[in-house]
Order: sequence, then C-alpha cells, then structure tokens
Amino acid sequence: MAQTWTPNSWRQKPIQQVPDYPDHAVLEAVEARLAKYPPLVFAGEARRLKSALANVAEGRGFLLQGGDCAESFAEHGADTIRDFFRAFLQMAVVLTFGAQQPVVKVGRIAGQFAKPRSSGVEKQGDVTLPSYRGDIINGIEFTEEARVPNPERQIMAYRQSAATLNLLRAFAMGGYANLENVHQWMLGFVKDSPQAERYRKLADRISETMDFMKAIGITSENHPSLRETDFFTSHEALLLGYEQALTRVDSTSGDWYATSGHMIWIGDRTRQPDHAHIEYCRGIKNPLGLKCGPSLTADGLLELIDLLNPANEAGRLTLICRFGHDRVAEHLPRLIRAVEREGKKVVWSCDPMHGNTITLNNYKTRPFERILSEVESFFQIHRAEGTHPGGIHIEMTGNDVTECTGGARALSGDDLADRYHTHCDPRLNADQALELAFLLAERMKGGRDEKKMVVNG
Ligand code: TRP
Ligand code: MN
Repeated sequence: MAQTWTPNSWRQKPIQQVPDYPDHAVLEAVEARLAKYPPLVFAGEARRLKSALANVAEGRGFLLQGGDCAESFAEHGADTIRDFFRAFLQMAVVLTFGAQQPVVKVGRIAGQFAKPRSSGVEKQGDVTLPSYRGDIINGIEFTEEARVPNPERQIMAYRQSAATLNLLRAFAMGGYANLENVHQWMLGFVKDSPQAERYRKLADRISETMDFMKAIGITSENHPSLRETDFFTSHEALLLGYEQALTRVDSTSGDWYATSGHMIWIGDRTRQPDHAHIEYCRGIKNPLGLKCGPSLTADGLLELIDLLNPANEAGRLTLICRFGHDRVAEHLPRLIRAVEREGKKVVWSCDPMHGNTITLNNYKTRPFERILSEVESFFQIHRAEGTHPGGIHIEMTGNDVTECTGGARALSGDDLADRYHTHCDPRLNADQALELAFLLAERMKGGRDEKKMVVNG
C-alpha cells in the first residue's frame, strides 16, 4: 500500500454501513462546519494513551475499556455521566489494588454514537423503515420522520461529546477521583448490593494505606497521582465524514490525528482491508482498536496488522476479541499464535459482550455467566500461550438497569422488562460490572503469583 494517505482518501474506497442521507448538500455543509470547530482531544493526550498502552502490550498493566453500547441524546445528563464514572472508578480501583497493576482507563464515551447494523431496514408488522443507526445519524423512534438520516445530528453529537468530556475531565482532575474519596464512591450502591461489603473492605484497606502514607508525608496535595487519574475516551470510528471533519494536523509533530476521541476502533463488520474504514484509520496516529470476531483468519489479521501498524509500534494496536463463550477456545489460540510467530506487538483485550447476545422474552440480553465464562477462557488461553491478557472491553452503565441476566442478584428473564433502557445492546449494570472487576482482579493476581513461582522455582 504505497498510495498516499489523506484525511479523505477513504472516499475512493468501497464502504460499508453508510447512512442514506437524502440531501448531500446539507451533509457537506455540516461537515464543513464541523471542520472549523475546535478539536475535542489533543494529539499529546492520544500519544500519552499510546505510551500507556505500549506498557500493556509489553505485559505491564491492564486496559479497562467500557461504557454504553450507544450514547443517546435523551440520556445526556450530569447524573448519568457521574454514575458511569463512579462505577468505572470502582472497577479501576478494584483492579489496581487487587491485581497491583496500573490500569489504563478508557471510556466508551464522549463520541460513541454511531452503530453498525446487520440489516439496513427494520420491520414491525407490515411497516418497513430504515434501521436506527445511532443518535448521530437518525432517531430511535419507529416513525418515518425519525428514521431519515439527519446531518444536523452530527453537530449535536459533537456538542454533547464536548460537554461530556468537559465533565469527565473535571471529575478526573478536579478532585472527584481522589483516592481519599474511595468510600464516597459507594454512594451509588443500590440497597442490598451484594458487592457493597466486598468493596467496603477494599476501600478500608486503601484508606488505611493512605493514612500510613500521610503519616510519612505522602499526601494527595504533594502527590497529584493520588488525587488525579488519566481518563481517556474512545468510540467506533464508523461515520467517516464526521471523523474526517475532526481530523487535524498536530502542529508539534506534523502528524494527522483523529480529534474526536483519544482512541478509535474499527468494527468487525467494517474491517475489509481494501475498504474505507481501514484506509481512514491507517493514516491517523491515534491508538487504534480492531474488533476480531470468528470470521477473522490468521492471515487476514496479519494483513490488517501490517496495514494499521507497519512500524510494529507497541501501543498502536489493541485487538479486541469477541468470539462468544463457546467459540473463544476455537479462535483465540490460532490468532495468538500467528501474532506471536510474526513478533507483532499488540494489546490483547477481551470483549465478552458481543459474542454472547441472545434473545429472551423478546429482549436482547446477555447471560452474565457466559460473559464471565468468555473472560475466564481468555485468561486461561493467554496463560497457556504465555501471552499477556491485557484488557477488557465491556458495555456497562453506572445505573441499576436490568439488561443482562444473572449476576449476584440473579436477574431473570422476567426481570428484563423492569429497567431495560439501552438504545442498542444490553449493558452490565453497576453491580454486575463491579462483580466482573473482582473476578478479573483475582485472575490477574493468580497469574502474577504463578509467574513469581516460576521465577523463584
Ligand atoms: N493516579 C493513579 C491511577 O490513575 C491512582 C488513582 C487516583 C486512581 N485516583 C484513582 C486509581 C481512581 C483508580 C481509581 O491509577
Ligand atoms: Mn454493542
């Protein structure tokens, strides 16, 4: 691929998942407006994330990536953002303290608006309408009016992303994420939460450690790393016109960066090597994610790695594996072996959500035990192959929704109707997300102890 790359070179390539905008002049006008708006993130931040991910690729640290399947305009509020961030911090602290590894924190947030669909149309009764493609494209209501793609929605998504990011930065840097607040983050627990006791015990130990450090002169005032945290944003780079409008040259390096988010990923449906999404992503310098599903062959993966990371730079590429609990053992080892054989540097992350979706009582749901089972297999396979299980990619919310069955509160198929709020796929609720974090911490710790035994033995 010696062809020159430009922010719009993807337009010469075949492309999947494109909305059918009725008026292209309006679309172009919106893209031209967006191209003049300020960037949402800075190149230096994306580089910082890349170097944190490089450590993970080399076996030091863990990537925690999560958030809504799809953000929505309707649920844009301070409480939703705070509740998400609090649940995310709880997970991060459990992983950091429990597994004693640095955790790289990346939200599926502040830009996660566009959804790929398996069918371009949705049928209800005898009415057929265009499918909902995410709030950045059209409306979820099943009416002809709502389903027409509207370019103005890109401006709304941009503004919502800016406001969300602004609050997240304030939370991450302005005191909310201070480890001295580790008990305060419990306020979000629902009554009788099975995780509350476990979390309280861990928070007590952290507080005790903090008190000890204070006694010897290490405080959150003189050590910013105790009161601040690096929190990054990510989304699927699906709507390329929007991404192009926010693609900017970094003045310090002269390189192109996507400024719509720190990390962007390529979906399993849009990863054809000669198509538009790969073309766009290969030219920007941000850290990239690549979703890997059962149809990806080892050679196909190596071809994509060469296109996306020709310099084999650690931290550039995260492989987000989503095979399903019953198929991970069949597919993951062959991909790991190919990557190892060729000496490619990647972060291996497990998406235990997208391969485990079933329909129950007319709801799309995901049984928690299957999610755990895929995560367990992911860890076991990496242990067996001698590679680093580097991260997790989940769909979650900070709220008490009833979208995935199971978990310590044993949600059943009959509970799904109670608080099923997602705009797309079923998410873990705050309790289930924390339960998963505890399990992960145990597995990570187990792996570390094993390694120590090998070294000492
Ligand atoms: N700065 C460290 C980190 O981000 C420690 C830290 C501060 C932290 N606040 C946190 C860790 C909240 C987890 C959650 O890892
Ligand atoms: Mn999803």
